[in-house]
Amino acid sequence: MKQICNTALLASTIAVLASCNGGNKTPQKTVPDVVTFTEHVAPILYNNCTVCHRPYGGAHFSLISYDDARRTAASIAYSAKTRIMPPWPADPHYTEFIGQRIMDSVDIAILEKWVKEGAPEGPKDKMPLLPQYPASLAGRPDMRIPVVPVFLKANSPDKFLLIKVPYELPADTFAALIEFVPGSGNVHHVNGDMVKYDFDKKKTTLGGVYCVTMEPTDTTKLVEAFRKLDLPNDDGSYPILQKSVVNYLPGAIGQKYPDGIGGYFLPRKGAFIFNDIHYGFTGKDDVTDTSYINIFFSKIPPNRPMQEFQLGTLGAAPVEPDMIILPNTVKPIMSRLKIAEDISVVTINPHMHLLGKSFKAYAVAPTGDTIRLISIPRWDFNWQYFYTFKKMVKIPAHSTIYAEGVYDNTKNNLNNPFSPPQIITDRNGSMKATDEMFQFIVSYLPYKPGDENISLE
Ligand code: HEC
Repeated sequence: MKQICNTALLASTIAVLASCNGGNKTPQKTVPDVVTFTEHVAPILYNNCTVCHRPYGGAHFSLISYDDARRTAASIAYSAKTRIMPPWPADPHYTEFIGQRIMDSVDIAILEKWVKEGAPEGPKDKMPLLPQYPASLAGRPDMRIPVVPVFLKANSPDKFLLIKVPYELPADTFAALIEFVPGSGNVHHVNGDMVKYDFDKKKTTLGGVYCVTMEPTDTTKLVEAFRKLDLPNDDGSYPILQKSVVNYLPGAIGQKYPDGIGGYFLPRKGAFIFNDIHYGFTGKDDVTDTSYINIFFSKIPPNRPMQEFQLGTLGAAPVEPDMIILPNTVKPIMSRLKIAEDISVVTINPHMHLLGKSFKAYAVAPTGDTIRLISIPRWDFNWQYFYTFKKMVKIPAHSTIYAEGVYDNTKNNLNNPFSPPQIITDRNGSMKATDEMFQFIVSYLPYKPGDENISLE
């Protein structure tokens, strides 16, 4: 079982898209006459930033101490003012979600004033205590499965791996939550599926290698990689794959729903597959990442298991007009789906690649009412959250769900992977970041009266 992953390096960096995103609600707070780090700035950073900007938090630098903050003072204020940080691409004036990270404008003004006045430290005894950050944000797990340790050499660029995390249990069971816990500050994102084996079709799930280097642009090598990971059944056929059971982005919190809602059937033999686990670049020291998966069992089966449909690329409704984006154009794309029954929407996930510029989704009910789902005025490839509503959103039968995206294939798009811009298509659902996708994934339950009053928080 002891393996260590020490793969060749891959260069792949993604530029962060910068622009501006308007104001925010104005609370009763005001900017103090004299702003210092210990009295005013540290509490703001601890509330808004250090969940990620701390060791193991996912961001590559810390914002805990005065020295940390002073060194990056100007970019702290800039990133807050432009609302690049904290990362939350969805417009909170359109719809709100669990765990949203929005800074209030007075806090932003305080950061700016602090920088303008030379970033003074202030009285040391006013320094607030750093909040406690438990390893699991969801509590004490019932089972912990280690991910194969990954060795990251000092001063390395970004790295993408395909990782298998197998398990075997004494019997089939149920899980309320499957949570990824990063073992270093270098884990950038994880999208994990579950392979569910029929008990008698696979002698053991523990064979094969646990880790293969794989750029997300390299889907042609997938079948070969699956073989190396020993994923197929013993007879060569493929087991069932359940998509997106464990996802992670820095600062994301595993979502445990109320009893009986959501959850997973966990067969006694299975494996989690991280499709393109992304490690950010390393600093001056070697890092051995020892991440793990936490499982929270559930005594009851998921009697309202989460269901899913998808608009757009490879989905239940096509992309309109077509995913052919000519160079030097800005192109709107949409997809629409009429639903047959009442549903309660729980979580949504908009998905585009590097040319994405904005995204919006809503439903229009038979009465003509518009039901807002999400608006992302400034698409950010790096922050593709699974957005969970605070309370389920009912969409009545015979409503049409609309998803609308805009793609910018000009040189003004700083994320454009090609210079000069080239013709870009979806190539039949290729997941290459340099091809495009347009997807809107909706996780829902068949509606039951009262759903809209159940708090999911
Ligand atoms: C949800 C996690 C998260 C939160 C919360 C967060 N950051 Fe970040 N931040 C990151 C990550 C991850 C990066 C690195 C981005 C990358 O490598 O592409 C980053 C990068 C940055 C950068 C560098 C930007 C650049 O262009 O490279 C600054 C400055 C920054 N953050 C400041 C802040 C401040 C100030 C706050 C709080 C107001 C904050 N961040 C909150 C995760 C977070």
